[in-house]
Amino acid sequence: MTDDRGARKREAAMAAVAMVQDGMAVGLGTGSTAAFAIDGLIQRVRAGLRIVGVPTSERSARQAREGGIELTDFARHPRLDLTIDGADEIARDSLALVKGLGGALLREKIVAAASDRLVIIADEPKLVSKLGGTSPVPVEIVAFGHETTTARLAKLGANPVLRMAPDGTPFRTDGGNLILDCGFGTIEDPARLERDLSGVIGVVESGLFIGLATTALVATPGGLVRLDR
Ligand code: A5P
Repeated sequence: MTDDRGARKREAAMAAVAMVQDGMAVGLGTGSTAAFAIDGLIQRVRAGLRIVGVPTSERSARQAREGGIELTDFARHPRLDLTIDGADEIARDSLALVKGLGGALLREKIVAAASDRLVIIADEPKLVSKLGGTSPVPVEIVAFGHETTTARLAKLGANPVLRMAPDGTPFRTDGGNLILDCGFGTIEDPARLERDLSGVIGVVESGLFIGLATTALVATPGGLVRLDR
């Protein structure tokens, strides 16, 4: 990541952090942009802000806990006021998303669906007119029978590639599942594709987030752009 991209991700993150109010239950996203937001929340907590957080990954849980953010769960907080998370692609008009290149899509989707507001933070290359042109769609699948699940996804035109970890073994999610990065090219109907992917036996969840994001804060060279749905 260039310094410029890092600075823009931080700018978007800080704008989202400013939306957090005392007493809120906050979903904590995953990825390099969300990490800036968690940092910003840690600073505000140290200055007296009282919040509780639900993390979307073990990584984010560790960062938040070490920084002094009190963590909670859905037994104590069935609904969250606000979630701040990154994305791999954001459709400009609908705020439909591709997420999961960082591997946390399942927990991210559960947290997003339990949130009154989902604020997506990103820098400009993530903003697209149609999903699928710059990123594959990550699809989380159970390990058992993954070869057969892969074949079923290939029939949807997915060109699925099993994600590998740096040590050369298959990447495992926090839930112990596998990820197939599915290249569809430009996606004309993301809602329909999400339904089709959900219907494939062996699929746990897809990285298509439809109708979940309420706001996108996108840092561009010309300044911060806010998009609301
Ligand atoms: C994590 O699984 C992802 O959904 C991230 O939110 C997404 O990949 C964005 O990550 P960066 O902020 O690191 O680009």
